[in-house]
Amino acid sequence: MLSRQLGKRLLAYETPFYLYDTALLRQTLESVVYESRRYDYKVHYAIKANYDDRILSIIREFGLGIDCASGNELRKAIETGFDPKGIVYAGVGKRDHELRYAIEQNILAINCESVEELEVIDAMSREMGRTTDIALRINPDIDPKTNHCIDTGQADSKFGISYEEVLDNVNHIKGLRNLNIIGLHLHIGSQIRELHVFENMCNKVNVIVKNLTALGFELRFVDVGGGLGINYDMPENEPIPNFASLFAIVHNHLDIGDREVHFEFGRAIVGECGELITKVLFNKTTATGRRLAIVDASMTELIRPALYGSYHNIENITSEEEAMSKYTVVGTACESTDVFDENVGLRKTRRGDLLTIKSAGAYGMSMASRYNLHDIPSAVYGDDFE
Ligand code: LLP
Repeated sequence: MLSRQLGKRLLAYETPFYLYDTALLRQTLESVVYESRRYDYKVHYAIKANYDDRILSIIREFGLGIDCASGNELRKAIETGFDPKGIVYAGVGKRDHELRYAIEQNILAINCESVEELEVIDAMSREMGRTTDIALRINPDIDPKTNHCIDTGQADSKFGISYEEVLDNVNHIKGLRNLNIIGLHLHIGSQIRELHVFENMCNKVNVIVKNLTALGFELRFVDVGGGLGINYDMPENEPIPNFASLFAIVHNHLDIGDREVHFEFGRAIVGECGELITKVLFNKTTATGRRLAIVDASMTELIRPALYGSYHNIENITSEEEAMSKYTVVGTACESTDVFDENVGLRKTRRGDLLTIKSAGAYGMSMASRYNLHDIPSAVYGDDFE
């Protein structure tokens, strides 16, 4: 863990800040590229996980495509130099100006999530004298066995078109002349650690692809989304996620001929490469005896614990004390849910000590807010140390 290696050297920086282990990011990218090449799988990076410029330029060097979820994410990817033909754009609610921009950029596919969206893109494309490449994002109705706040592919979810609705509208969809339906897209959820879930996904995809092909759709690729989980409990044990196992499962269970297979990983690429470094401001004990360590970060820098009850491992990286004590680590925001974790075993913690909140590279900085007019946190990169 980079913060452990750097220890007191980090005291030189204004806290709180994100510390990015750029060497680990490169190793993670080497792993995903190496493992995906065995099967010729195409990998996109879900830019929503972290759109830091330096991180994006490292990811670009490894030749990944991009998955984006808004017009601004698409613009960021294009401005960073990603090839538009490697970019997919999903989202239940794309605004008109975002759709027009995506049509103009001639990206790999707009992943459409409703029949109405297909009709709108068809009409816009006609007005613009274009034919737009589309992937149908189908809701596969699969329980991804993850935190329910971040599942996306169950029947009642807002994401994707229901398979039945696609079947009911086959002729209508095929009649939309300014669309080329070239792909199928699905994404069942995030932080999936039970990999057998992906087997169920493959079985569903096999049926959908077979049926849609029989109905006359010419699907060139299937994009099975992201979702591969990371080890929040013990990140040191598994700094690089197990891409090989996931790819092997998909290889063994997906039966879609020679169509391209695409993935869209966010957390698995950047999650373990980032830590949130924060300074202890004060210690106090509540009337009920709870010992609090009040740190200078808050839910405005990392909202996952407050929003989903997510766990991040925390460690004191500057204390020289041997003795451990239990602390509730709380932030500075005016919200009672602004708690990073309860009952954390930490080396005796004093004002001025630095804590690391680990596995914060994904959905940390990208979900930061300015509540309480907090500043957006800065970033420090492993590459800048000797
Ligand atoms: N593709 C699509 C269509 C997605 O919606 C997502 C994530 C991904 C790919 C990337 O998923 P990943 O590989 O990172 O699991 N803020 C939440 C996670 C929200 C995920 C949203 N969609 C969190 O902090 O856990």
